[in-house]
Amino acid sequence: MARLPGGVAVVTARAGSRDIAAVVTSLVSVSLEPPTVLVVVHADGRLGDLLVPGGRWAATVVGEHQAAQVAWIAEPGRPDVGQLQGIPHRRGEHSGAALLDGAAWLELRTTQTMEVADHRVVVGEVLAAGLGSETGALVHRLGRVRAVGSSQLGDNRLPGSAQP
Ligand SMILES: Cc1cc2nc3c(=O)[nH]c(=O)nc-3n(C[C@H](O)[C@H](O)[C@H](O)COP(=O)(O)O)c2cc1C
Repeated sequence: MARLPGGVAVVTARAGSRDIAAVVTSLVSVSLEPPTVLVVVHADGRLGDLLVPGGRWAATVVGEHQAAQVAWIAEPGRPDVGQLQGIPHRRGEHSGAALLDGAAWLELRTTQTMEVADHRVVVGEVLAAGLGSETGALVHRLGRVRAVGSSQLGDNRLPGSAQP
């Protein structure tokens, strides 16, 4: 699976007055009608407790210039306090969760969860979504994060693929 390129996103949720954030490559689109995504998180990670049914959270698809932010958020054992310190973000209207200034953002409400091995599959109904100022993306493969520029994204467009 390390050979499968994964689009990098940051999942965020509010724990009381604190922002909890985690880097994920498991965010995928499930359906457009109604808009639905899923993410797979460690069941015993800090986010695991927050993405429960009915819980609200957010995901930011990060842009090509955000590798340093991703490295900080993915740092093991970083404290609960100040997880997004120095990282530009605003608070989502529907979730209260942090939306990073990235390529795109989603606000979500958990509709279903399923425990699988030591992970939790979390299905989220999209409450709101929008584009950020970044136009490229970051892709993870073989333990490294690479930038995919917006010009490369235009190559080999597939029939029926989403435009933005
Ligand atoms: C590129 C990359 C992708 C990751 N993808 C996931 C993922 O899909 N699901 C997940 O639970 N953790 C993923 N992780 C690990 C989390 O970012 C994080 O380290 C883990 O959830 C533990 O977080 P915690 O110490 O805040 O509880 C990924 C890390 C990196 C660097």
